[in-house]
Amino acid sequence: MSKTVLITGATSGLGYEFVKLFANDGFNLVLVARNEQKMKEIKEKFQNVEVTIIPKDLSLPDSAKEVYEEVKKHDIDIDILVNNAGFGLLGNFDQLDIRKQTEMIQLNITALTQLTYYFLHEMKKKKSARILNVASTASFQPGPLMAVYYATKAYVLSFSEALVEELRGSNVTVTTLCPGATKTNFGSVANVENTKMFSKAMSSEVVAKQGYSALFKGKRVIITGTLNSLGAYAAKFFPRSISAKIAKYVGQEK
Ligand SMILES: NC(=O)c1ccc[n+]([C@@H]2O[C@H](COP(=O)([O-])OP(=O)(O)OC[C@H]3O[C@@H](n4cnc5c(N)ncnc54)[C@H](OP(=O)(O)O)[C@@H]3O)[C@@H](O)[C@H]2O)c1
Repeated sequence: MSKTVLITGATSGLGYEFVKLFANDGFNLVLVARNEQKMKEIKEKFQNVEVTIIPKDLSLPDSAKEVYEEVKKHDIDIDILVNNAGFGLLGNFDQLDIRKQTEMIQLNITALTQLTYYFLHEMKKKKSARILNVASTASFQPGPLMAVYYATKAYVLSFSEALVEELRGSNVTVTTLCPGATKTNFGSVANVENTKMFSKAMSSEVVAKQGYSALFKGKRVIITGTLNSLGAYAAKFFPRSISAKIAKYVGQEK
């Protein structure tokens, strides 16, 4: 029997790359995002597998529970959960819209946490199950000019690494993908396309493939790209005040 993966943020960028990878390997798909039309087009395109679409704005309270209930209504069991949906915003904290920043926390943190909670209970009863949480190289240091975004991604990494230990010896693996700048819609949504950090953005296909491979190897954390790995490693040794200054520098226009 085919296994099923639920992917949030499946309509573009890394999420869509994951759709292609899982569909090519015969996984049935449950897609979650806001753009229903785009998800219908994806369903049309991948007729080799069963595709269920759940249009949902995950920045709304209770949305994760609604997704879980919708999945149960379809009588689907999830074998792999990919918590990928997320966005960032560039600007000084006090100058950015507080509602947008709160939506970011809801999407990047609350929805990811609650989806993990609801699906983990049934995953633990399976022979084998996997979770892929998409964090960022932003997880490793404070990020002036994207203060809330960096903090949300620090949460994702910390939360996921804690689960790895809680679930050690169980049948569920948790992998955290930490990409650096990657060519997706993220750049235009966050308004970071013209910043120094985006001058060497990686291809979304390459980043997703590395995450996909790490997921099936059951790796704890995967940082994509040599420079990104070095940066994350260096952040462990620099005082956080220096790391914050570097993050502020790369967040400025080229
Ligand atoms: N690209 C980078 O440079 C980069 C670097 C590090 C980490 N990341 C992380 O990678 C993940 C994927 O982002 P991406 O780069 O692929 O960006 P993207 O191309 O903008 O894709 C974001 C996806 O999230 C969905 N989404 C956004 N808001 C949503 C909401 N409120 N409810 C439900 N779905 C929502 C979008 O679909 P709809 O618009 O249809 O809702 C879209 O499918 C994010 O967690 C991001 O933080 C990206």
